[in-house]
Formats: sequence, C-alpha cells, structure tokens
Amino acid sequence: MSDPKEAAKRLVGFAAVDRYVEDGMCVGLGTGTTACWAIKRTGERVARGEKLVAIVTSAATEKLCGDFGVPVVPFMSRDIDVAIDGADEVAPDWALTKGGGGALFREKAIAIAANRFIVIVDDSKVVDQLGRFPTPVEVVPFTLSWVQRRIPAQFPTAKATERVRDGQPYRTDNGNAILDCAFGLIPDPRTLSAALMAIHGVL
Ligand code: A5P
Repeated sequence: MSDPKEAAKRLVGFAAVDRYVEDGMCVGLGTGTTACWAIKRTGERVARGEKLVAIVTSAATEKLCGDFGVPVVPFMSRDIDVAIDGADEVAPDWALTKGGGGALFREKAIAIAANRFIVIVDDSKVVDQLGRFPTPVEVVPFTLSWVQRRIPAQFPTAKATERVRDGQPYRTDNGNAILDCAFGLIPDPRTLSAALMAIHGVL
C-alpha cells in the first residue's frame, strides 16, 4: 500500500481485531476510514468460519458489514464483548473527539455499552490537547438556531458552523444536524462536554 496513512489505518484496524476479537464474540463496529479496516478484518474472520456478529454504529457501517459478510444484530440484543472505533483526536488522558463522520451518538452508545472499547488511530490523531479538530455537536434540527447562538454566548471565542454536504444541510442517521464547533484548544474536555450537553437541543 503506497499511502502511509492508509497503511497505518489498515495496520491498527487489523491489529485490533486480531488482538481483541475471539471466536463467538459480538463486536461493536465503528464508523470511518479507519474502522473500515476493522470491519474488513472481521469479515475475513467470519469467512474463515468464526461465529462473530456485529452491532453497528451507523448505516454506512451496516452497509460495509453487508459488503464484507459480517452478520449484524440489533443494539442490545447481545452483550458487546468489544467495540472498535476510530477517533478524530486522542489526548494523553484518553479524551476523544469523535463525530467527523457524523456517527457520534450511536458510536458513544456502543462504546459505553461495550465491555471493552478499543480506539484505533494513526499517529496524526494523537494530540497534546483536543481542539485542533472542530468538535462535532449533534443537534435536534428544531433547535439548531438556538444552539448555534448559545454556543458563542457561552464560549465567546467559539464558532459553531452547521455541517453541509453536497450543498444540503447534513443529517445524521438520527435525522439531526451537526454543528462543527471551533473552540480553540480544549484544556478540560469533560467540563466542555457537560456544558454543551446542558444546552437544550444538543443530543
Ligand atoms: C465517525 O463519526 C467518527 O467518530 C470517526 O470514528 C472518526 O471521524 C474517525 O474517522 P476516520 O477513521 O475516517 O478518520
């Protein structure tokens, strides 16, 4: 593989499945270009006869599971032995930015429900402090203008930009909007997360 970044994604995606997934397990499968490699590897293991099933974090991942032959079961129909997912940034205390692919709500549901959560990233995602990558915030569309005003009201240097795809407002698998929020460097991600979650309309 000629692209070193893609090679790193493949390496971590395959390694996570090889190291943490055992025959008979239910695996939470993430979303994105890194998680894609873990899905592919899971499919290879299923093709070799292992009894693996997946719980998926997005419609895109469900489609990939179909392509790679990974059986999908509904959320909470099985204990999730291990969840494997990418991230947009990882801080030294394991704080994560997720949602560049818009699947943050289901990704978090599966991560917190899983017995074990494995994050797979190439080294470009490892940072000293979160914040270089804009923080994706999922918002119920009815409240979008409200939330878009509240964020800079509470964080004066922040800029909250509605995500647009192909000239249309982006919608998540849950039918919601995303605000990509530039906060600058984030010294205390937990406090920021709690403050955002307290704004009515933020999912
Ligand atoms: C999807 O919503 C995200 O949380 C992804 O896990 C994250 O954006 C990483 O994606 P890539 O592996 O494509 O960079």
